Parts: sequence; C-alpha cells; structure tokens
Amino acid sequence: MTTTDHDPAIPPDNRPIRTFHPRRGRMSGRQTDALDRLWPRYGLDVPDGPVDLVDLFGRRAPVVLEIGSGMGDSTATMAAADPDRDYLAVEVHTPGIANLLDLVDRAGLGNVRVALGDALDLVRGLPEGALDAVHIFFPDPWPKARHHKRRIIQPAHVALLRSRLTPGGTLHCATDWAEYADAMRQTLDADPELVDAYGGFGPRPAHRPVTKFERRAITAGRPVADLIYRRR
Ligand SMILES: C[S@@+](CC[C@H](N)C(=O)[O-])C[C@H]1O[C@@H](n2cnc3c(N)ncnc32)[C@H](O)[C@@H]1O
Repeated sequence: MTTTDHDPAIPPDNRPIRTFHPRRGRMSGRQTDALDRLWPRYGLDVPDGPVDLVDLFGRRAPVVLEIGSGMGDSTATMAAADPDRDYLAVEVHTPGIANLLDLVDRAGLGNVRVALGDALDLVRGLPEGALDAVHIFFPDPWPKARHHKRRIIQPAHVALLRSRLTPGGTLHCATDWAEYADAMRQTLDADPELVDAYGGFGPRPAHRPVTKFERRAITAGRPVADLIYRRR
C-alpha cells in the first residue's frame, strides 16, 4: 500500500453490504510520512486468503484483534501495557492507519501490526481458534432501522468472530448507543457458544483507554456500555 493506491473504503459496485462508511479523509503531513515510512514494517493489506499470524508477528503469542481501530489510540495504549500479547488492528480509514503507525513507531512497539481493509475479510482468513481476544470499541451504530444490516454485531458476524476465538477467549464490545447496546446483548446472548463474562452491563474496565468517541459520549451525557463475552 502506498498513499496513491486505491482506497479500500470505496468499494466498487456489487460487493457485499459493508459495515463502514466509505470516506477518504485527508492526511496530515505527519500521517503521510508515517504511512510511507512505516507501512513496510508494520502494515499489511487485508489479503484475499489465509493470514499466518506467527509469520506476521515473528513469534507465537496470544493475539488480540482490534476491529475498527479508528485513530489507533486504544490499540497503541493497550499493546504498550500488554507486551506478552500481539495486537492486530484493522481499519478501513487510511488516516487512522497512518496515525496508528506513527504511535507504534514513537512508542517502539514490536507487538502491533496494522491491517488496511475490511475486518470481516481479514477474520475469514484466520484459522479457527487463532485469537485470544477481539475488541470492537464504538462500532458505527447505524441508527436507522434500514441500516441495521450494516452493523458489525449481528448473528452471522458474531458466529464468524466467535469461531476465530480460542476457547476461553473474549469478545469485548463497547458502545455509547443505548439501543445498539441492547441489540448487541440480545445477539451475543443468543450465541450458544458465548458466555456473558459480566452477567449484565459491567463497569468500564480500567484497561480500555478513553478515546475521542467516549469523551464525546460523556460530554453528551450518553452512558457507555461494555459487553464482554467468553467463548466456551
Ligand atoms: C465510530 S469509529 C470508532 C473508532 C475507535 N474504535 C474508537 O473507539 O475511537 C468506528 C470505526 O470502525 C471502522 N470500521 C467499521 N467497519 C469496519 C470493518 N468492517 N473493517 C474495518 N474497519 C471498520 C470505521 O472505519 C471507523 O473508523
């Protein structure tokens, strides 16, 4: 990937329904520089086929997948505090990818890789049981009923994500959209292979950093729900 390549956030016609808004977004000089300099070391385009995590990270360690990493603050902070696990962030928004590459480089993190493309395509290329955790923080809520089919948390996606978790591995979602939180809970409760690790909406876990989306929600008075489920 270079700064002049096709933007995967703008799909050609007749592709499946996507969970993201196609948007280009401008990059700052620092982000352009980070992308050009650091992509070869930490980046990968979401491939059509299998992903070899041991080859990607250069070691065999538990892997956390962060879907929709945004500007990358959560990934970089959590990876820095958790050096024994590897963090794979996946995002379709190129400026966010570039920002995370910059954060990773500045902090000298060896346990982060950054994938550009659709997370669901990436997950399909992972072996069953490959992941220790999946993080989905503040996914797009798609509030209109006719757009609910675009939500990442829906039964077919949850079945796919859960199949890639190791037994005992966790799926951690956070949202500030109350109706989506309830819909998430229903969908996750309905999956027979998942167990609610909290037994209801839990307290905000201290290890999940506060991002711009959460600060905005707090300012607007919207409560944030964390849902943490474990694969049986
Ligand atoms: C509302 S933002 C939240 C960003 C970040 N998690 C945070 O808390 O600041 C949701 C992000 O998910 C990304 N996204 C949505 N669907 C995706 C998909 N299928 N694959 C990769 N990224 C996706 C969007 O591009 C967007 O940046």
